[in-house]
Amino acid sequence: MRGGLTSTFNVQITIEDGTSDERSYVVTIDDITDLVQAQRSTAWADVARRIAHEIKNPLTPIQLSAERIRRRYGKVITEDREVFDQCVETIVRQVGDIGRMVDDFEQRLSETPLYGHFDSRLLGQAFGNIIKNASEAIEAVTGEDDYHGHILLKAYQDKDQLIVEVIDNGKGLPGDNRQRLLEPYMTTREKGTGLGLAIVRKIVEDHGGHMELHDAPADFYNGRGAMIRMVFPATSPDAVVKADNNTTEELQA
Ligand SMILES: Nc1ncnc2c1ncn2[C@@H]1O[C@H](COP(=O)(O)OP(=O)(O)OP(=O)(O)O)[C@@H](O)[C@H]1O
Ligand SMILES: [Mg+2]
Repeated sequence: MRGGLTSTFNVQITIEDGTSDERSYVVTIDDITDLVQAQRSTAWADVARRIAHEIKNPLTPIQLSAERIRRRYGKVITEDREVFDQCVETIVRQVGDIGRMVDDFEQRLSETPLYGHFDSRLLGQAFGNIIKNASEAIEAVTGEDDYHGHILLKAYQDKDQLIVEVIDNGKGLPGDNRQRLLEPYMTTREKGTGLGLAIVRKIVEDHGGHMELHDAPADFYNGRGAMIRMVFPATSPDAVVKADNNTTEELQA
């Protein structure tokens, strides 16, 4: 326990060969708290994705059947017609709500692993800034009764590029001079420093990548909001494994 938090360590002790009365030991202590936490989160995310998928599967047939009942039997029902209409309407509406709710916690991440050379601390900082911006853009939407904020994360490979997209249905990016938002001190928020995107850009470019600022795609909650895309060079899985081994060797040496 350190500062109220439990940390997990991996300790390895190797005995160096030497004369019998003079032995040296190499002790390596690795803090693997983040790794263990990441594995746990991945496992949970995986379960959530499977459940979401299983819940969504029957929704379309339920919706289509309800609509079919309405079309087919709506004409012939004369008694209690209002009740009939109301019930069908409720089924269709609630099924739609379930679908949207399930979408809310469904990140669309690539099924196959994406390989690249990354500094996880810096990337975490970059993603954090982008997601903070997205949530602020959602908070900036006011005076709409039926509004719900949504943020969608996507990560996938396209040829030799790894693409990460953060899409929100917030107030949207300004029409003009978008690229300038990537410069330091460009802000439209009263309490903003305007450093967020400039830092993200630096991190992405230091990883050999680039950034693009787009409107959210038309099929994402009627195309309102922003889509921030980060494009990184992909690495072959072999290269990543080799690099890992090198680092381990260097560390152990
Ligand atoms: N998802 C988004 N939707 C709408 N506008 C955005 C979005 N992300 C960034 N912006 C615009 O880009 C500007 C610059 O963003 P940046 O993160 O650099 O600074 P900031 O968010 O204003 O301040 P800070 O990050 O220091 O809190 C924002 O003020 C906002 O106008
Ligand atoms: Mg910001």
